[in-house]
Amino acid sequence: MNVLSRNYLVACAGFVLAAAAHAAPEPAALVDQHHCMFCHTRDAPFLAPSFQQIAERYRDVPNAQFMLEHKLRLGGKAHWGDTPMPLPADRGGPLSPEDAHTLVQWVLSQ
Ligand code: HEC
Repeated sequence: MNVLSRNYLVACAGFVLAAAAHAAPEPAALVDQHHCMFCHTRDAPFLAPSFQQIAERYRDVPNAQFMLEHKLRLGGKAHWGDTPMPLPADRGGPLSPEDAHTLVQWVLSQ
């Protein structure tokens, strides 16, 4: 198989996997601006719970989306350990309600 067709296959496989997971598209600019991946990863707990753990924990919790948007913007007590998440001002600047909504929707879809 030549390199071109192999790349094509890899690209297709990636597309199928992404579609199968029903993940919301990553709001990459926001994630960068607020340094989410400085502490979180998608699937491995690091300085913070992974986004998959978070999605798993809140899958059946009513109002989780609302609660997490609020927490992302204004802070709140820690749910995973002793270390609370830093406030937006210490991450990358103020976070609008719309941006918080987009980010939480994306996290919960992982
Ligand atoms: C400086 C490190 C750091 C950064 C940057 C960071 N987080 Fe976190 N995050 C944490 C820690 C630590 C926790 C666990 C806090 C707790 O116990 O509730 C956490 C928890 C969370 C939770 C779950 C909160 C809960 O109540 O269960 C969500 C959702 C989340 N982060 C999303 C994000 C998003 C989205 C961003 C980017 C806008 C982000 N985090 C940036 C450290 C960070």
